[in-house]
Amino acid sequence: MLKKINAWVEERLDLSTLRHLTLEKTVPKHRYTPLHLFGGVALFFFTVQIVTGILLLLYYKPTAGEAFKSVEFIVTQVPYGWLIRSIHSWSANLMILAIFIHMFAKYFLKAYRKPRELTWVSGFILLVLAMGFGFTGYLLPWNELAFFATGVGTESVAATPVIGHWLLLILRGGENVTGATLSRFFAIHVTVLPLVIIGILSIHLLLIQAQGMSKPIGIKEKGEIPFVPNFMLRDLMMWLGALIVLVGLATFFPWELGHAVDTFASAPAGIKPEWYFLSMYQTLKWMPPFFIGISGELIGITLISIAGALVLLVPFLDRKASREEKSPWFTIIGVLAIIFLIAITIYARFS
Ligand code: HEM
Repeated sequence: MLKKINAWVEERLDLSTLRHLTLEKTVPKHRYTPLHLFGGVALFFFTVQIVTGILLLLYYKPTAGEAFKSVEFIVTQVPYGWLIRSIHSWSANLMILAIFIHMFAKYFLKAYRKPRELTWVSGFILLVLAMGFGFTGYLLPWNELAFFATGVGTESVAATPVIGHWLLLILRGGENVTGATLSRFFAIHVTVLPLVIIGILSIHLLLIQAQGMSKPIGIKEKGEIPFVPNFMLRDLMMWLGALIVLVGLATFFPWELGHAVDTFASAPAGIKPEWYFLSMYQTLKWMPPFFIGISGELIGITLISIAGALVLLVPFLDRKASREEKSPWFTIIGVLAIIFLIAITIYARFS
């Protein structure tokens, strides 16, 4: 029966690429410590986001009057609704964490060097898009915390020179965070970002497929192992681990819903963004109101943009031609960046 179906399809389509992927594709032979496998883990969490996001859409209502009540309905009335919502929220955070680990792993392995510059650039865009997912999704339950945090987050956009106020109006759909902001964030979260991220992710994966996986520096072993089943099984083991961590967290630490928004109330004290925005939030907070006549917020935004541009341009800054050549300065800068990011995030969270 299977042979007949196969013959029927083969008569109509050329399946040689698929056959190559499953039967002939190989990857460099080495120990594949878990650090090498976080790209796959990010992919796993992204798939979880799509599936649980579609399930949440069955009941969620994106209006200021109904959003909070609909999420309340999901977590109290819909069978397993609380679990699906908790998995969606935890998986979003774990996905961003996995992307950061994947990015730093590829950085230290110098996997961004020729010919993989565009794989790095497309990966960086994926990181920005994933953070955009987090930012827009945070507002959707329309709870007190999300409402005021979004107010602060969108406020900083206004500091951008010339187009700042215009950007703020586009994002908020007016001067303030209102139901119009919720509609916009909802549209961006469930249509614009998924479409763009799937496009860029396809480019990222196609580049990896076309160029083959890089071999870590300093690896002595020679030769290749089959992608299916040897490498696939390693990936699957990581996915199983990711699933266990995700379901454990979502079950034992269900994601909180908070309180319904009261748009006329003053902002509660200590409003802070999600952990992955804390480093930017703290940088802006440390800026003086004015420095030689320039607004502190503008200086902060400029510093953050320069840091982002430097990460994006890593493959073009480290011009060492060979994969084996060392660039100790880049390694030192990478280690310092990790220490700085962790320290500033912890400080911002607990100060
Ligand atoms: C949604 C986010 C992302 C997903 C799902 C993803 C997925 C993947 C997968 C499955 C691989 C192949 C397996 C591996 O080498 O780990 C890979 C490779 C790679 N990724 Fe990503 N990635 C993402 C974000 C990023 C980011 C943020 C960067 C860096 C800025 C990046 C840079 C790279 C590079 C340079 C490679 C090639 C590695 C090599 O050949 O050794 N990726 N990615």
